[in-house]
Order: sequence, then structure tokens, then C-alpha cells
Amino acid sequence: MAPTTCITQTVPADPLQAVIHADPFPYYAALRARAPIVRDEALKLWIAARAHTVRAVLDNERLTVRPTSEPVPRAIAGQPAGEVFARLARMNEGAGHRIARQALVAGLSAVDGATVFQSARKHAASTIERFNTDDAALLDVLAFALPVRVIAELVGLSAPNGLEATVRQFVACLSPTSTPEALRDAHDAASRLQTQLYALTRNATAGSALVERIVAGGLAREIELPNALVSNLLGLFSQTFDATAGLIGNGVVTLARHANVAARLAASPSDIHAFIREVARFDPPVHNTRRFARETVCIEGVAVQSGDCVLVLLAAASRDEAVFEDAERFVLDREAHPLPGFGAGRHACPGETIAQAIAAGIVAELVASEFDFANPALRWTYRPSLNSRIPKFAFVERNAS
Ligand code: HEM
Repeated sequence: MAPTTCITQTVPADPLQAVIHADPFPYYAALRARAPIVRDEALKLWIAARAHTVRAVLDNERLTVRPTSEPVPRAIAGQPAGEVFARLARMNEGAGHRIARQALVAGLSAVDGATVFQSARKHAASTIERFNTDDAALLDVLAFALPVRVIAELVGLSAPNGLEATVRQFVACLSPTSTPEALRDAHDAASRLQTQLYALTRNATAGSALVERIVAGGLAREIELPNALVSNLLGLFSQTFDATAGLIGNGVVTLARHANVAARLAASPSDIHAFIREVARFDPPVHNTRRFARETVCIEGVAVQSGDCVLVLLAAASRDEAVFEDAERFVLDREAHPLPGFGAGRHACPGETIAQAIAAGIVAELVASEFDFANPALRWTYRPSLNSRIPKFAFVERNAS
């Protein structure tokens, strides 16, 4: 097993610190054992860790994705990134959500996973050729740049140089911890991406089958900017960015830790799809999401008051024995079951198949290359985040550790 570097080896102080802890799963197990829903007074959050409670929270219409008092974070409201945020299916409820979601589902569900897999694989092959396999920059490009390039292809956007950097700047607007400078860059990025995507939607011959299906699904081409079609096309890039990087990175971590699994994939490449699926359960990239009570709601016998926030621990639900037999073990041949890490209910991820196909294509190519997952110099920490678990890799000489 390759050694890991980590923020701390002690028990995480709370479920937000757990996200980037070296091994948060014993802590999640303890939370599941405590009660169906637990109050953290210091964080002022309710915590749902059991699979059954997570599902009940996500299915509850009175628990919404944004607080009623602040539908768009104050720090970005009325500015370019805030205008996009206000129109995202992910950040809305009611009619605004239903219309955008229906259109996105119509578009994304028609995308052929096998084609996405091949496209990701082709991009990965040409990237791997350009790097030494003991260069951590290779893993960064594979995890962050390639997935958004595949999405650009699907949308019909000729991937401009710097697409990864622009998406990275935009996603800063989604984090409450971003600095004013990062938010300024996020507004610039929102404006640039909107201009490119707007041009695409105005020119009926320039778009792609995906855009056409989204338009036919109910998000009309509009003359004005900002608009819901352009915002939600931009949202495909931001929804992909960190989460897919985490899935790819956590796949690499799994192969570094489980030599037997790496050997099996090398011998049986078609197992890559089952592998990525089990990584998404065993070491999911999105650890939590939030819901806000728009009125008092009873959850598992506990009254959650209007305005309260529930932290929904998707990663804890992914290891719940009540749903997954032998949940703490990586089982490549596990029977397929809905994955908590992609959410559930009315906001469940409509990009799950695409995300898994991208990650499978990239990791398959890495397995087929000379990449040495067992290299003892390969180390990782986790990038700072309150909800996503994304490794940052380095190759460290033995005497430097
Ligand atoms: C490994 C990668 C991914 C993971 C783990 C992931 C996970 C999630 C989760 C947990 C949610 C629900 C959040 C909530 O209910 O609070 C979500 C929503 C969403 N995801 Fe993904 N996602 C991934 C990749 C993608 C990709 C590649 C796309 C599009 C191409 C996408 C598009 C969306 C959209 C549009 C929503 C909002 C749906 C709605 O609110 O109705 N995701 N995703």
C-alpha cells in the first residue's frame, strides 16, 4: 500500500474537515451510529449520515437547495457569476428548476456513453504521450483539463486554450470561502464563457446534438444575456469540473492502494466501468451537499426549524451497511445499486453516465500506459474544500518525505 500524506491523522473535528481527511470513514460510521439526524451546534448544522435519512432529506420538497432568504449568495448577487448562478437548475426549485432540469435530462440522457468513453480515452492517450509518467502535472491535466474538453466537444464549443483555467475561475463563485479577488476572476470568467456559449446558441448550425436536444427539451434560445440556456450550458462545465477531477483522482488513489485491483484491470480492461462505479461508491468525490428548511420539517422524528440547514453526507451514506453489503470493502464485482454520491430525488445528477464514462476512459488509458500506480514516490494530499475530495498528487523522493 502506498503511503499517503494527509492533513492530520487524528479524528476529523467535524464533517466539513472530514472531506479532506486521510480516512474520514470511521468518523462517518460513528455519525451513522449516533442517531438518524445529529445536531452540530458549533457549525449550526443538522447532519444526516445514514443512507435512509440522506434519501429522505433529498426527497423532501420542503428542504430546498438554497435558503429562501438568500437564493443567490450575497457576495455575487447581481454580478455576472451571480446572474448565471441564479439560473442554474442545481441552484433552483419550483418551475425554474423543473424546466431547466427537464431540458438538461432530455439532452444529457441521449448522449452515448461509449462515444464519451472513446473520446476521453483518445484525449488521455495524446496527453500521456506528452508527459513523463512520474510527472504529477500529468495527473492534473488528466483530472481537470480533459473532462471539460470532452464537455466542450459535446456542447460544440471549440475548446479554447485556457478553458480549464476559465472554468476553474468560474467555480470559485460556488464556494463561500472564495476571496474578493477570486470572485472578481469568477465574474470575468462568467462573462467570457457566456459570450462564447451565447455565440454558439445564436448560430443554429454551430451547436451540437446535445444543445439541440436541450433546446427541444424546453430551454429556448434567447436574444438577451444572461439567459437560462446559456447559464445551464455553462453549468455543465462547472458541475463537471471538481467532481470529475475527484473521481479520476480517487480512482488513481484506489489503484495505488490496491495492487490486486490494478493487476486485474491490466488483465481485464473491460472491468474499468465496474471499477469507476465502485470508486464512486467507496471513495466518492462529492462528500456532502446542503438543504435548507423553508418551513419546519419533521425528519426521523426531529423538528428541523424553518431556515435551518441540513448537511447531507453522501459519502457516509455510500458506506452504509443498511444498503451496501460489506460496505467498508472495495468490491469490484459489486451488484449495481444507485450511488448516493450522485445525489437522489429531484436534483439527482443528470450527468452521472457521462461523468463515469469520462473517468473510465481516462483511467483506462492510464492503466494501459506505463504508469506505475505502485511507485512509492507517488503521494497525495487533498485540495482544500468543504465538500469535494480531490487529491493533489506529487512524486516525492524517498529521503525527502
Ligand atoms: C463524478 C462526477 C460527478 C459527481 C460526483 C456529481 C454529483 C452530483 C450531485 C451529488 C448532484 C446533486 C447535488 C444536490 O442534490 O445537492 C449533482 C447535480 C448535478 N450534476 Fe452532477 N456530478 C458529477 C458530474 C456531472 C457531470 C459530468 C455533469 C454534466 C455533464 C453533471 C451535471 C449535473 C447537473 C446539471 C446537476 C443539477 C441537477 C439538478 O439540480 O436538477 N454532473 N451532481
